[in-house]
This record gives sequence, C-alpha cells and structure tokens, in this order.
Amino acid sequence: MNFLELLSRPELIAAHRGANSLAPENTLSALKKSIGRADFIEIDTQLSKEGIAIIMHDDTLLRTTNVSQLSEFDSKKPYKVSDFIYDELKRLDYGSWFYRDKAQAEPLLTLHDALIFIKKNNLFLNLEIKDISSAFGDKEVVDTVVKEINDTLCSDRVLVSSFRHEYLKLIKTKLHIPTAALVEDAHPKELISYLRELGVDGYCLNDELVHRGSVEMLREEGFFVGVYTVNSAIRSHELFEMGVNFVFSDSLYKDKI
Ligand code: G3P
Ligand code: MG
Repeated sequence: MNFLELLSRPELIAAHRGANSLAPENTLSALKKSIGRADFIEIDTQLSKEGIAIIMHDDTLLRTTNVSQLSEFDSKKPYKVSDFIYDELKRLDYGSWFYRDKAQAEPLLTLHDALIFIKKNNLFLNLEIKDISSAFGDKEVVDTVVKEINDTLCSDRVLVSSFRHEYLKLIKTKLHIPTAALVEDAHPKELISYLRELGVDGYCLNDELVHRGSVEMLREEGFFVGVYTVNSAIRSHELFEMGVNFVFSDSLYKDKI
C-alpha cells in the first residue's frame, strides 16, 4: 500500500507532531508512541544552518529545547533554528520541557532518522516542510528533502505538505510523491485552478476555514482533504461525514490499527 491508497480508507487520524500528548512533539519518542494509535504521523522539518534537515516545529528553539538554560548559546538569542549548526543542535535536550517533574532528556531527531524509523516500522508519514524561505532558497530546501526521501527509499510512504506552496510545485518536478497545500487564514482565490496549477493531490486546512460546500467541491474535483487540529471526537465525526479524509489530532488516538 502507498500513501494515496491509504487515503482511500475512511476516517483517518494523523498523529500531529507525532503523538504529542504522550511524548515531546517531533521526537523519536513521539513517533514511537504513535504506533498503533494513528493511521499516519505528521512531523515538521526545517534545516540547520549548514542545511541538514531536522525535525522541529517552531522557528526558534526556545519552547521545545533547553537552549535558554545553556549560557554558551546566549549570543544566539532569539535562538532561531537556522542560526544553529547541526553539532550545536545535537547538544540540546528536546524532552525535559515536556516531562516537567520527571525530567527526561530526548535527543535531536533528524529527518533521516525519522524516515528510517518510518520505513523500518512500515508506517506512513506526512512531512510538513516549514516555510524557511527567509533563510534558505526553495531549491536547496526541496533538494535536501527529496534526497532524504530517496536515500531512505520512502517515497511510497510519505506525503509532503507545506504552507509555502512553491516547495510543493518544485517537489513534483523531482519526485513522484503525493503533496498537499496547507492553508491557515484564507482560501487562495480560484481554489481549484490554483491547486491544479500547483499539481498537488490534496488540501489541508485549519478547522476554522472548513465549510461543507468547499469540502464537497474539493472531493468532487479529486482532491483529498485534511483538517487541523481536531481534538474533539464529535467534531471529527462531523468532518468525516462532510467528506474530510483525515484529521490531524493531538489526542484522538486509536487503540489499535
Ligand atoms: O499539517 C497540519 C499542521 O501540522 C499544520 O500546522 O503549525 O501544527 O505545523 P502546524
Ligand atoms: Mg505541522
């Protein structure tokens, strides 16, 4: 089964940033906790200063690492990820912010290691490429991600998405892989022609933007639809009933797949 075949199944749950209510988001522990609890896993990728793909959501390291406790990095405030080389990122702890009372260190997760894990465990991954266009050219970003997917032989089990739609258009020229455009505040004008021009297979939107009419139109036009972030079972059923293919959730886990 490849990712598009998986999407033909109903009522899919994506573990948002890994199972992020059970382990620190975007870490290997969060990926492990997702097994058996979700149909696929969503994680976020961006690049270190020298261009190594790592797994991290925020633009800065402040919220999800111990960087502010290490005086050696004081000069790097506000701790933008793109200001840190890989060797520096490796020295940080990505877990103790989450566990609070029982401090537990978690190592940096690279895209390479995340993909190896997905392959080894027969899982499916939605890889969101963060918009890092202020620090890197689109081609460098896309080439780096494509190389990792190719090197790990994961193209049949990965869906690539991004709020920066230029990445998605570029990816389609390099890799036969499903893509989805992410939107947050508003739909692009002439939505269907816009998505066709991008060459994407799907559309993932903020729950606040969802209307039955647009979901039905997208599905009729052949696009799959994902909605983030949905933590209510009642709301997820409403969305599935409208025709939404999957929801990204922090907490709606399945017992077993
Ligand atoms: O891809 C869905 C969701 O992950 C997009 O929002 O900010 O959690 O990456 P964010
Ligand atoms: Mg994301």
